[in-house]
Amino acid sequence: MSMLTRNLDLFDPIDAAVGERSTPEEQLEVIAGFVRGCVLCGLGRNRRHAVPGEGGARAGLMIVGEGPGENEDLQGRPFVGRAGELLDKILAAAELPRPSVFITNIVKCRAADMVDGKLVNRPPQAPEVNACRPYLVRQVEIIQPLVILCLGAPAARGVIDNNFNITEQRGRWFEGPYGSRLIATFHPAFILRRGGAGAGARELKKLVWEDMKKVMEALAD
Ligand code: URA
Repeated sequence: MSMLTRNLDLFDPIDAAVGERSTPEEQLEVIAGFVRGCVLCGLGRNRRHAVPGEGGARAGLMIVGEGPGENEDLQGRPFVGRAGELLDKILAAAELPRPSVFITNIVKCRAADMVDGKLVNRPPQAPEVNACRPYLVRQVEIIQPLVILCLGAPAARGVIDNNFNITEQRGRWFEGPYGSRLIATFHPAFILRRGGAGAGARELKKLVWEDMKKVMEALAD
């Protein structure tokens, strides 16, 4: 069982609002509206923009990252900074154009701490991930992707298993909701931190590409 389970609330205002819409595009917009107004955790207090996610409402592939960074917070769109550029290259190589994929994060607002007067990104904490998960669960319910690809350990821990070990368990398949298949690979920002073009980064890129080939095969099944 993955982390993407649902609370059995008898009445939930998000479900009620989603239920009034018939197309998945409209339903995703309802979720985005709730995300933009969300104050369920402290991250909502410092955001410039929430980042609900974007892409195909009937996408076969959903990509889940760790959370918005500075550029994403400024623009309200996922993966638009340097890590996003590398993700775009990976998607282009896999012949998966951005609009054919739905891209989102385990938390929809930037996690950052003030250090010496400057905001510095940090991984989201468990209570923040838990508060935000219902939005992701509903996005998965609406889109019903064939494959959910987690980028990096925090995303894999938020989606697949609390104790996920990215080095040991990346590239393996796990069972997700609605018949979906879950898999994780390294986060593009992790490759960039290894220097982008150096030997360490090259090795990581090779592993990510092995994982992407599995994703491509699963989408073609
Ligand atoms: N890194 C992430 O994990 N998500 C984004 O949206 C951007 C960078």
